[in-house]
Amino acid sequence: MEVERDQIVSSPTIPIIDLSNLDKELVARAVVNASQEWGVFQMVNHEIPKELIQSLKNVGTHFFELSSEAEKEAVATPVSSKDIQGYVTTSHKDVEDNVDRVDHLFHNLSPPSWIDYKYWPKYPPEYRQVNEEYARYVKKLAEKILGWLSEGLGLDREALFNRGFGGGDKAVYTMKINYYPPCPQPNLVLGLHPHTDINGLTLLVPNEIPGLQVFKDDQWFELEYKPSAVVFLIGDPILRMSNGKYKNVLHRTTLNKEKSRMSWAVLLKPTYDMVIEPLMKLTVRGDDDEAPKFKPITYGELVYRRVNNLPLD
Ligand code: SIN
Ligand code: FE2
Repeated sequence: MEVERDQIVSSPTIPIIDLSNLDKELVARAVVNASQEWGVFQMVNHEIPKELIQSLKNVGTHFFELSSEAEKEAVATPVSSKDIQGYVTTSHKDVEDNVDRVDHLFHNLSPPSWIDYKYWPKYPPEYRQVNEEYARYVKKLAEKILGWLSEGLGLDREALFNRGFGGGDKAVYTMKINYYPPCPQPNLVLGLHPHTDINGLTLLVPNEIPGLQVFKDDQWFELEYKPSAVVFLIGDPILRMSNGKYKNVLHRTTLNKEKSRMSWAVLLKPTYDMVIEPLMKLTVRGDDDEAPKFKPITYGELVYRRVNNLPLD
């Protein structure tokens, strides 16, 4: 079946937020509004150095495009592994089937006890140092944004990160590199089928090949490529923690006829034992607290139900 593409609107409409704006209240408001209306925004002039983003892309591209199959095999996800970490490649020959057409590499970035370097590429040699440095910056940026999102819910700045994700010692950050090979018939298939993110918050940098589309008001909007911008996507746990205020954006990716598309997504998620529930004000449950729209559920159960298409609420 032909993928419907006639209604695609090219954004400047997906919000672009400039973090260097000195009016921080305005920035915070823009983050809250974009998360409520779209569940996605791009951030420019954030504190991650442009050169570091370029290095992150260079080492990842090197791994996917220049490494030998043996080097990829060395970090492959073991067949019987329950862990998502590692490299996975799929065959993309049949244009009729309905599978996602993306190779990927997952490896945890934080907390330190979750890092397993056997899944980090050994080549190029600077891969590890670049990713470690990127992790430091990306975590700071994620926590800053979560602070504003917490305040937007009338909560204290640490509420989402500490109560929702378990705080600095527990919150899990995972790197996922997506590699979408060129596709001779990009109109017939998708890279990733429409989905909302199961993890809480995604901070993504794509390469220059367009392909990420988000759904809003019955239309698909294509993300405009901005060099060095970080794309934020709100996922299911934040929808639930915010009692439905922040939107878990539906998105998909398309393929390019000639060029490979890549993206580097840092996924922030709670551990499986964490209970995901609307974070109401901790003070006396007053009149202004609306009724919770979601039942408490552990993150493990949420993932299990999503993966197996089981009902949620
Ligand atoms: C994703 O939805 O996980 C990846 C999006 C992208 O590749 O831009
Ligand atoms: Fe996604």
